[in-house]
Amino acid sequence: MTSYPKFVEFHEEGPREGFQIEKQSFPPAERAALIEALADSGLSQVQVGSFVSPRAVPTMSDTEELFRLIKKKPGTRYSVLWLNRKGFERALRVPEADIYPALMCYASDAFSRKNNNCSAEEMRDRNAEWIDLYAENGYAPSTAYIMTAFGCNYQGEVPISAVTDLVKWFKDLCADRNVEVPAICLADTVGWANPDQIRRRIDAVREIVPDARMALHLHDTRGLGAANFHAALEMGVDLFDSSVAGLGGCPFAGHGDGKAAGNVCTEDMVFMCHELGIETGIDLDKLIDAARMAEEIIGRPLAGRIMHSGGLDKYRQKSATE
Ligand code: COA
Repeated sequence: MTSYPKFVEFHEEGPREGFQIEKQSFPPAERAALIEALADSGLSQVQVGSFVSPRAVPTMSDTEELFRLIKKKPGTRYSVLWLNRKGFERALRVPEADIYPALMCYASDAFSRKNNNCSAEEMRDRNAEWIDLYAENGYAPSTAYIMTAFGCNYQGEVPISAVTDLVKWFKDLCADRNVEVPAICLADTVGWANPDQIRRRIDAVREIVPDARMALHLHDTRGLGAANFHAALEMGVDLFDSSVAGLGGCPFAGHGDGKAAGNVCTEDMVFMCHELGIETGIDLDKLIDAARMAEEIIGRPLAGRIMHSGGLDKYRQKSATE
């Protein structure tokens, strides 16, 4: 039975996912203006950039500077991605960064080695250290990400047991550290998911941690992003990562040069929610303006649809007055 959530929260990843994959760097002032426009649309969280190795991702090396330029809006969290202890320590040194204390693990060992330069097992075990590190700094984990939770371009199929084993591991770890199980975010990092997999994997996770919030990080690599998003809505999922204008992709995903596709597009998914009667707290027109700004900055047509076609409100208003 369809059981849409009443309210869906979007965590905007475009400023990080979108710009990390570009070959050239874009001026921090332009990216700051985009981040401000995104926050102005009502998004609860905007990911500004990442604190990873500047050799691995040169376009994110100025994230500290970017944080200093943003005029922050109360009510929006300005998060940043890190994948190792050094990255978290960089985040602690930036007062403008809002700490979103995520845990990170990989369902694919091959992708872990490509993206994080360590085995999936080593990465999983580092999460125990991270929980302690977060506690020392006054934070409890917000979300546990399971990357490549649906498949991997390097390793192939990812069995459902690879996901459920990690969820059980997180559950035991949280019990051991006496912290609440955070939201569990299944990340389709490289765009393998289909709606049936979405339903089955959400069910399987909920069997293990029925009280944990579920979240999804979806990519539209093979055109199934909106279908997967809708399947998750039908399961009552109310938290999604997404990217304005459909920007982005992981440079280490193994798609081949130029073939990586972005996250599900924020404004298109917001449009879907509004059409289904689900609230988001987001002003769609303002978000579309931000998407057009992203396209202007990047300098080529982007994948988003609503930014090009426009929403339906003006047609509804027109027919109401005729
Ligand atoms: N910030 C800045 N520099 C970092 C860093 C960080 N978070 N982590 C590592 N480095 C630097 C080290 O200082 C060291 O530099 P040096 O050679 O000049 O001394 C070098 O990188 C190697 O350090 P090491 O601790 O061995 O890290 P690593 O090589 O195992 O790298 C990652 C680990 C995760 C930082 C690296 O693989 C990475 O940045 N990957 C990018 C992943 C990514 O952003 N993917 C897309 C989003 S999912």
